[in-house]
Amino acid sequence: MFFLLPTPQAIADYVSHRLIQLIRHKPDAVLGLATGSTMEPIYERFCQQVAQQDIDVSHLTTFNLDEYIGLGADHPQSYHYYMRQYLFNRVAFAQHKTFLPDGLCVDLNEQCQRYSDLIRQAGGIDLQLLGIGSNGHIGFNEPGTSFASRTHVVDLSEQTRLDNGRFFDSQDHVPTQAITLGLQDIAEAKDILLIATGSNKAQTMADLYASALDEAMPASIVKAHPRAMVIVDEAAAALLPQGVCKTLTQMA
Ligand code: GLP
Repeated sequence: MFFLLPTPQAIADYVSHRLIQLIRHKPDAVLGLATGSTMEPIYERFCQQVAQQDIDVSHLTTFNLDEYIGLGADHPQSYHYYMRQYLFNRVAFAQHKTFLPDGLCVDLNEQCQRYSDLIRQAGGIDLQLLGIGSNGHIGFNEPGTSFASRTHVVDLSEQTRLDNGRFFDSQDHVPTQAITLGLQDIAEAKDILLIATGSNKAQTMADLYASALDEAMPASIVKAHPRAMVIVDEAAAALLPQGVCKTLTQMA
């Protein structure tokens, strides 16, 4: 379940390689995409490798995990903006097949229902990328979220608003709500790669390791998934007991 690579760069190489392997095997695969600083080197490496290897990404469908409510697609802190910046403006995805929740949508409940339905209609997610919040959230599924949840509106915890405040001009500008894919939607992905890098994730990884399947630790749902991998760098692995992590072979 826990796999170790030395650095964020080595993780980026590995994850990018996995994505490209999947695309070669299934050109119309469905990807579940995440945002956050953890994903930045991964998308950077993926864009390089797509260009170098002339990979066609135009048949892929992508679903992002989440979006802040109240931020439009052109707001620099919106996840729409993030995805254009780090991925969609850099490699030739088919725009009509890249889905994110709409943070300005008026009928939120209808949108939530539709988002989970769209994933099912697309055949389900083949590979889901996940980061993790310091309190163990995945997507924006905060501690206490039901493992049976589908796409829903969430009130962000103070911890999450503080953690994510670093991206905003002031703490007051951090949205209080978001739309997130539910834990059940995430758990239905065929493959899951949960990635944690840096010393600020070391305690979260120790907590995840120690946790039973428990809604108080949303990320623990991946422990019930037969093919999920938790991939950590040395800094994020620092508080895990000796011998917990398997070593992954580095990809060039
Ligand atoms: C946000 C996102 C999560 C992400 C988390 C960690 O809260 N909604 O999907 O995993 O941030 O972000 P970072 O990678 O910047 O630590």
